[in-house]
Amino acid sequence: MSQLTHLLAATHRKAEFSCGKEILDGYLHRQASQDVKRKLTACFILEDRASGLIQGYYTLSNNSIPLSVVPAYLQQKLPKSYTFLPTTLLGRLAIDHRYQGQGTGKLLLVDALQRSYEISKTIGSFAVVVDPLDQEAENFYLKYGFIKLPDSGKMFLAMQTIKSLFE
Ligand SMILES: CC(C)(COP(=O)(O)OP(=O)(O)OC[C@H]1O[C@@H](n2cnc3c(N)ncnc32)[C@H](O)[C@@H]1OP(=O)(O)O)[C@@H](O)C(=O)NCCC(=O)NCCS
Repeated sequence: MSQLTHLLAATHRKAEFSCGKEILDGYLHRQASQDVKRKLTACFILEDRASGLIQGYYTLSNNSIPLSVVPAYLQQKLPKSYTFLPTTLLGRLAIDHRYQGQGTGKLLLVDALQRSYEISKTIGSFAVVVDPLDQEAENFYLKYGFIKLPDSGKMFLAMQTIKSLFE
């Protein structure tokens, strides 16, 4: 299965992107290219080839979570020597308002999970972690099986679960 998204490039029409959340719009308009240059994140774009508009984007980075925040049933299966677990951060995911409610968010999430799973074959990653902006975003991730981590507001989906979607 090939990916639907491409790395953010200078030719993408970032300024026209509008998802309704200023923090996610502003990030793409003003910050994403800088963060990519500095190797802080990778930003993937879904483009509408007909209109040239950006339909949606997401970002991926390496991060980690403490073993202690993972639910007990998973901790029991993991060696205690790992005080932190390597994870993949799906830091941002947003769909332009012109494309919301048409399955594009689901498509982009699946694309991000598949990409994260492929990467985990060469760089170990226990889970994909998200940091939802608000209750609406949290509800979206809950629908796809993400589990809340205590205290941080973050959520995760185990790579073993993601693997079962693609193999
Ligand atoms: C949240 C967001 C990514 C969803 O994208 P979308 O393209 O509108 O969603 P889709 O059309 O792909 O919806 C897929 C499914 O998720 C459901 N869904 C969409 N948004 C949802 C939400 N906030 N809560 C619960 N379910 C949601 C849809 O009803 C649909 O369900 P179905 O397949 O059973 O019909 C998009 O609305 C968005 O970018 N919002 C602003 C930015 C944001 O909040 N991003 C969240 C990450 S920080």
